[in-house]
Amino acid sequence: MSAEITRVARAFRRGLPTYGRDARAQARIAAYLAALIRAHAVPRPARVLEFGCGTGFLTRHLLDDLHPGQFWVNDLLPETADLLAPRLRAHPGAAFFLPGPIQSIDLPARLDLIASASTVQWFDDPAREVARLCRQLAPGGLLALSGFGPDQFHELQALGSTAAAPGYVAPGEWAGILPKEMTLLHVEDRHMRLAFPDAPAVLRHLRSTGVNAGAGQIWSKGRLSRFETSYRDRFARLGALPVTYHPVFVLARRTA
Ligand SMILES: C[S@@+](CC[C@H](N)C(=O)[O-])C[C@H]1O[C@@H](n2cnc3c(N)ncnc32)[C@H](O)[C@@H]1O
Repeated sequence: MSAEITRVARAFRRGLPTYGRDARAQARIAAYLAALIRAHAVPRPARVLEFGCGTGFLTRHLLDDLHPGQFWVNDLLPETADLLAPRLRAHPGAAFFLPGPIQSIDLPARLDLIASASTVQWFDDPAREVARLCRQLAPGGLLALSGFGPDQFHELQALGSTAAAPGYVAPGEWAGILPKEMTLLHVEDRHMRLAFPDAPAVLRHLRSTGVNAGAGQIWSKGRLSRFETSYRDRFARLGALPVTYHPVFVLARRTA
């Protein structure tokens, strides 16, 4: 595993016990992506892959809404299999857990749907990995992803934080990233703002949702206090500190 993937795994492992409770933005993103998938996917698809499942925000929707025949579900962290085990056992079709970085997994072929919420931003080369994934789709198969755009955590970026993921992709860039056999059906971005009482609460939120893999900073008392002051000066609204999420939703169909 590369040093980068090891760092991402460490951050998500640390946040795993609290992710289900604190990742409010990701829960809403997964629910919205699921609604888009319902609008575009065939009912009861035979073969479905989800990667970067985490605690299963999107997984639940895929199983309950689509009832796939065969379902492969992946996450970098092998222990997420335990969280999903009751759901996967109850699934009347066949369900398989594929642990590890999706980049190094032998992917199933002839898929009707590849879905993933809030994970592609961790790819260092989204175009390369998306092209590899799309090759596993059957003709007519659907790719349905959410990643994050360049405004993700823009307050933190402006304050010099390095808590960014490597692969933020703007909505307008997706057409150029998709391989030529894919037809773009839908691309949409949203801005979602969460509010926190102070800077330590912001940092706790990043940590408890595992999204701070890019941040290697040590927070001395003085540094934290300067961070709080700048955050308040530039961004406070009604006394609270906002954190902006910038999800980007992409649906594309394999047409060749
Ligand atoms: C922000 S969470 C999203 C989890 C879930 N999809 C959701 O919507 O809540 C990102 C997940 O992607 C996983 N992940 C990160 N890089 C990955 C990779 N290269 N391959 C597979 N999973 C990865 C992390 O372990 C984490 O569980």
